Order: sequence, then C-alpha cells, then structure tokens
Amino acid sequence: MGIYAVTGAASGMGKASADRLREAGHTVIGIDLTEGDVVADLSTPDGRSTAIRTTLRLAENRLDGVVLAAGLGPVPGKETTIAHVNVRGVVDLLEAWRPALAATGNSKVVVFGSNSVSTVPVVPKPIVKAFLAGELDKGVRWARRIPMAGAIFTYAASKIAVTHWVRRTAVTTEWAGAGIRLNVLAPGAIATPLLDAQLDSADGDRVRNFPVPLGGFGEPGRIAEWVEFMLSPAADFLSGSVVVVDGGTEAFFRATDWPRPVPLRKLPAYGWAMWRFNARKR
Ligand code: NAI
Repeated sequence: MGIYAVTGAASGMGKASADRLREAGHTVIGIDLTEGDVVADLSTPDGRSTAIRTTLRLAENRLDGVVLAAGLGPVPGKETTIAHVNVRGVVDLLEAWRPALAATGNSKVVVFGSNSVSTVPVVPKPIVKAFLAGELDKGVRWARRIPMAGAIFTYAASKIAVTHWVRRTAVTTEWAGAGIRLNVLAPGAIATPLLDAQLDSADGDRVRNFPVPLGGFGEPGRIAEWVEFMLSPAADFLSGSVVVVDGGTEAFFRATDWPRPVPLRKLPAYGWAMWRFNARKR
C-alpha cells in the first residue's frame, strides 16, 4: 500500500479521489483550505510552504503518488487567486516534492487540468506565457484588460500553463529518469460544488448549453476511478499524457486539430530533439 498526497481533498473530485484511495487501503494525506490532514492556503507562498513541509513530515519524505486537485473555476474578481492556486499550487508543490517522489523509484502524479485548455477560444498567448514564466501578476493584469473575459481567460490560461509545464517536465531526466510518471487528467463539466457555483452564476446558461455529446455532467466518483487508474501499475508507461474525460466536448469542437504530423518547418527542431535524447545515452 502506498502513501499519497491529495490537494483539494475536502471537496469534489479531490475528495472522491482521496476517499477511493483510502478505501483501497492506501495512506492519504489530504490537503485543503479549511480542513484535512494539512490545512493550508495554496494561494499564498506561506500556505504552499506549510503544505510542502507538513506533507513531507507526515510522509517521512517518501511519496508513492500525488494528486493535485485543489483549484478554482473561472470566478470573476478572483483572477489572482485562480492563478496562484491553479498554477503555483501545482508547480511549487511538485518541485518541492520531487525528491520524495523519486525516493520510491516508481511514483505517479495526476495533475487536474481541464478540457477548457482546448475548448475556450482565443485565450491570449501572453497570459499563458506569463504564467509559465512564473509572472502571475503580469498574466492576471493582461487578462483583466479584456472586458467580461478576465476570469475565463485566467482560468483557461492557468490550466494551459500547468498542462504545458507537465508535458515539458514529465519527459526530463529529473522526472521520467527518476521513475516519476507525471500526467494530466482533463475533465469536462463534472458535478461538483465548483460546477454548481458556475451554474448559479451569470454564466450558468453558457455552461448548461455547452455541447456534451454523451449528455449531462460527469460524476466525481467516476473521475476518481480514472485517478486511481493513473496512479496504478497500468500507468507505468504513461508520461506527459493528457487524459481527457469530458463526454466528448473536446472531440466535438476539435476533432481533426490533433493528432497531426510534425510540419516541415519544425523538422530541424525535431531532429535536434532526437539527437539530444540519444546524446544523453552516450
Ligand atoms: P471543488 O470546488 O469541489 O474542490 C476544489 C477544492 O480545492 C476545494 O476543497 C477547495 O477548498 C480547494 N481549494 C480551493 N482553493 C484553495 C486554496 N487556496 N488552498 C487550498 N485548497 C484550495 O472543485 P472540483 O470541481 O472538484 O475541481 C477539482 C479540480 O478540477 C480543480 O482544479 C478544477 O479547476 C478542475 N476542474 C473542474 C471541473 C468541473 O467541472 N468541476 C472541470 C475541469 C477542471
């Protein structure tokens, strides 16, 4: 049985994941804002530092896996908090926990992304770039300049940034090379308190009318089954993947946008990446 840290363990998909892991006999360190084994505000550097230190102490510096589910939805006026929890609440924790994940030799990380990374249109690239560079306030200032869309662009950009961070980090020697499997689970609309708040907001009709080919909303318990699967030996060969579980919304809008072959203009970079990878082995 393993030791797992789960952020956002007090509600929704984080809670469902923590419950499922506990039922399977694992030890779970639940982290959340007001209740749990570790109470910490992931929107602040102090809170993140508390979450990092207390978890490492409770886990005795060995983690079999981590689930990063703490997060906010696109709440207008909360742009700064969204960026800090959704981006730094993932990246800072994982960077600090990397040695504990490496200590077990075969560990797994599930980061909660979102299908909004490809279904929210025209998210400005400078916001994503600023978030990836750690310049959160700069990104939020950019988003707030766009009338009516500051929160949705901040939210989508935060999820794009963590998804890009996972994909580029997962395949490095420090992570894949240390036996750490780092992947993203990207849900669509799942019936949790976060979605309820969106449905009750001025944006409710847009959420209700968003196309879901399979119909309805997803269940947190079903998402927890995906989390457990992505933490299990079934995921031994999974790295840098984005698993989309969204009732078909992403495929509905973007059916032929991916996969695509490498275009001619990217061939030099592709060849260079191949050379660098093989040079590491020599
Ligand atoms: P939820 O609102 O039910 O649970 C989120 C948890 O994060 C809560 O327990 C909350 O207290 C915690 N949290 C928020 N701010 C925090 C902070 N500053 N410090 C510590 N903990 C904090 O949300 P849900 O729906 O379970 O979402 C889980 C993840 O999935 C989030 O990252 C969300 O963005 C993402 N997501 C949710 C979707 C949905 O339709 N519900 C769709 C796509 C992605």
